Amino acid sequence: MAGLVIANWKMHGSLELIAEFAQEWRELPQLSGVNVVLCPPAPYLGVVSEAVEGIVLGAQNSADRVEGALTGEVSSQMLSELGCGYVIIGHSERRSLFSETDAQVAVKAQLAIAQGLHAVVCVGETLEHRDADQQDKVVSEQLLGSLAEVPWEKLVVAYEPVWAIGTGRTATPAQAEAMHGVIKGCLRGHFGDAGADIPVIYGGSVKPENAGVLFECDNIDGALVGGASLNANSFWHIASAASAGRA
Ligand code: 13P
Repeated sequence: MAGLVIANWKMHGSLELIAEFAQEWRELPQLSGVNVVLCPPAPYLGVVSEAVEGIVLGAQNSADRVEGALTGEVSSQMLSELGCGYVIIGHSERRSLFSETDAQVAVKAQLAIAQGLHAVVCVGETLEHRDADQQDKVVSEQLLGSLAEVPWEKLVVAYEPVWAIGTGRTATPAQAEAMHGVIKGCLRGHFGDAGADIPVIYGGSVKPENAGVLFECDNIDGALVGGASLNANSFWHIASAASAGRA
């Protein structure tokens, strides 16, 4: 499968940054063999889709209801209408800071896929779990809990060890590859043969310097990039490494 590289800008950016990013991105060579997705903060979706060429638009979150009196929420139908192809669901920051549960993540993913979006379901263990050697159990349980009633078509799984997010501390390629193997095993167990076609991407301090070695791993199908995706040049280098790594 072609590599998949997703920019998660989190709550960063401005109209000025988008203009600079778009300008720099336009001057970089076009990429092939990799799907590039950009997930800006929701208010900037329209501007990014107009300004940045050659990317698929994505969102960082969607509601767990179809519609209603839910001040501040954004539905997957709205995201789909705005031209999004992807939505990140159950990021560890949403789970820890906004108390999202596996059950909510599963409902959000179902609704997103029903609207034709790719649902990027995030899982990952804390440092405490890793230090206690509990990571395989914790991530498998989190994954299966987050996939209840979720169809496999248009599903993407992102493995983001919490201890590697924004810390500069990447999982070693061996650690990431091992966990991606566990996740792929779970997906095959849950979905049968179709599970093998679900991309599993890695996130946590991915940079141009470490992207190449990560993408050489058989079970790593791409990356979910935070900090390094705010700069067009560094994001392009990561995406370009994915296209070379999967060629
Ligand atoms: P960083 O790349 O900044 O570590 O963030 C990873 C992440 O959380 C992407 O969703």
